[in-house]
Amino acid sequence: MSYLNRIDVISSHLNKQQDEDEEYLIDSPTGATTKKETITVTDNRTGKSYDFKIKNGTLNANLFKEVSETADDNGLMIYDPGFQNTAVVTSYITYIDGDKGILRYRGYPIEELAERSNFLEVAYLLINGNLPNKSQLDQWNNKIMTHTFLHENLVAMMKTFRYDAHPMGMVISTVAALGTFYPESNPALAGQEIFKSESVRNKQIFRIVGKLPTIAASAWRHRIGRPYNTPVNHLGYTENFLYMLDKLSEPDYKPNPVLCRALEILFILHADHELNCSTAAMRHIASSGTDPYTAVAGAAGALYGPLHGGANEAVLDMLTHIGTKENIPQFIADVKGKKKKLMGFGHRIYKNYDPRAKIIRRVAYEVFESLGKEPLIEVATELEKQALSDEYFVSRKLYPNVDFYSGLIYKAMGFPTDMFPVLFMIPRAVGWLAHWVEHLEDPETKIYRPRQVYKGEWYRNYIPIEGRPPAKVRSQDSYSSSTTKRYSKLSQ
Ligand SMILES: CC(C)(COP(=O)(O)OP(=O)(O)OC[C@H]1O[C@@H](n2cnc3c(N)ncnc32)[C@H](O)[C@@H]1OP(=O)(O)O)[C@@H](O)C(=O)NCCC(=O)NCCS
Repeated sequence: MSYLNRIDVISSHLNKQQDEDEEYLIDSPTGATTKKETITVTDNRTGKSYDFKIKNGTLNANLFKEVSETADDNGLMIYDPGFQNTAVVTSYITYIDGDKGILRYRGYPIEELAERSNFLEVAYLLINGNLPNKSQLDQWNNKIMTHTFLHENLVAMMKTFRYDAHPMGMVISTVAALGTFYPESNPALAGQEIFKSESVRNKQIFRIVGKLPTIAASAWRHRIGRPYNTPVNHLGYTENFLYMLDKLSEPDYKPNPVLCRALEILFILHADHELNCSTAAMRHIASSGTDPYTAVAGAAGALYGPLHGGANEAVLDMLTHIGTKENIPQFIADVKGKKKKLMGFGHRIYKNYDPRAKIIRRVAYEVFESLGKEPLIEVATELEKQALSDEYFVSRKLYPNVDFYSGLIYKAMGFPTDMFPVLFMIPRAVGWLAHWVEHLEDPETKIYRPRQVYKGEWYRNYIPIEGRPPAKVRSQDSYSSSTTKRYSKLSQ
């Protein structure tokens, strides 16, 4: 990032601070400006007014318990399906301004980190809060790269998966199983207090960050029927990952440095994104005090879905289905008619160009220069152009997100689409662990337990089966396996 760009970033931050301060300023009757950090809520059912304190731009949801109509109701709850406007933590890790397209890790703009840093340094920053000096970084790299080997029993377990098992399913299960190898770090066995020790926490972080690429590469080698490679600890993080994916019999195999750097950048961009679906899942699971292996496996389950980490896989499927530029207008018409979704567009938080998408677009062209152009890029760029000039997408503030181009890069690098969520999960695990540590240190931490609005049957007495009418339920159909079909023929 140039010096001038940096000044822009700093000044926009300062302006924002000023805007935030002004939000609290109201004019007093005397004309003097005073700052009131409260909000007055009037309950029109009872005529009662309540003064609630505003803190950090939020209202404490528990305050609404006071807003009751009768003495025996429990007050109001906040209804927010999908947590669209509910803050559940105070975090110091990642800052996003979705309207302005800003993303910062621990205060550092993502653009600077992507250009100047590397993945393990960013991992240090996210988990520990500050950039390391040279000796701290050397020690960190060494710790992570000396926790890359897998227990042979875990390798044996991975080998029992079916030849066509989805690599994400393999990785999720293997990470969960990994926890069983470390009973001393399982709170269920070693006690709830163990993660108060920084040394115990750090050990799990080194293990998870160190071993994930080995597990992911093994899942890939399993898929293609080749022997799993063991890690080479003196290589860089992404270099070692590419090595384990591809090494055959060469004694000194070295992965393509352009691809190593591209992967470093992609990993940096994917490392954290505050309380996205999977990170919220990580915090949710960890809030019950479970071990981080189980929590990471659960978070990975959330990431696997097509609306989250599976989105770039879905982008590729969509582009392949569109096929040629000529088919784009019809596809856009289908999206506008709500028959299809434009995958890789839209974001819960960004209502502007996702800053990661800009960086990724550049990386895409660097990779294509090294490996040859990915034909679907033509379809992607034309689709982006047409969507960005269409009122439907403009009015809904739908812009390309990080997944729009990442899938194309991965495809150009030779990854099949089902490896995409795995390539997302490896770096995002660092974000999950940063949130895990923050959660453990947060004095406000509580077990996650949302509320609900109950609209079900109020009270029913049990009726013996002989006296019941047919139940009104949703369809009980399910498709049959071929075996069941053959069995049913026999029984007729
Ligand atoms: C990411 C996503 C789940 C965010 O959803 P959200 O914040 O809940 O937004 P909504 O679903 O409320 O969408 C608001 C409007 O935009 C439309 N919209 C949102 N994303 C759209 C997309 N990708 N294609 C077409 N229309 C879309 C919705 O249909 C809705 O239109 P309406 O007002 O006419 O009903 C959503 O944009 C999406 O599904 N994108 C595609 C998947 C993807 O790329 N995910 C990766 C995220 S990094």
